[in-house]
Amino acid sequence: MTTQAQKERSFSDVKDILERYDYNPSNVIPILQAAQDQYRYLPEDVMLYISTALGIPPARVYGVATFYSQFSTEPKGKYVIQICDGTACHVDGSVPLNHAAEEHLGVDEDNPTTDDMLFTLERVACLGACSMAPLILVGGEFYGHMNPEKLRELVDEIRSREGRNRDAEH
Ligand code: FES
Repeated sequence: MTTQAQKERSFSDVKDILERYDYNPSNVIPILQAAQDQYRYLPEDVMLYISTALGIPPARVYGVATFYSQFSTEPKGKYVIQICDGTACHVDGSVPLNHAAEEHLGVDEDNPTTDDMLFTLERVACLGACSMAPLILVGGEFYGHMNPEKLRELVDEIRSREGRNRDAEH
């Protein structure tokens, strides 16, 4: 549940983004990109705020957000694991990698995000580094020549690092 304080903080973050782009409706795409970088997805109330602030219909903002595949209107985990399923990676084992990831994370295609919001699993087209096949991208970093065991180790390492981080915050 979103608290009032969180909403106020959200909108002050959105205001900063809008100011950076001069509240110019022709900058709606970079504005949505910056908002997504901030929240890891585009919450509905943030899109509504942006449409009001830019003086454009909400339908136009939703239209942009749903048209471009780089935008997500669903919450994503802190770490997005993208498994390349381009031809080279497919031939070199992206399917077993995907199965291992689904099993280890407890997610599937319909529910790609873990309950603790730490991971989201996605399959993507060629990431452009086929010589490293099979390749995955995790939190913006490439991991080449992956296999199911290395993928499980990577997930466990992130989980344990985040566990320590969470403990350190308290
Ligand atoms: S097919 Fe995976 S990087 Fe090209």
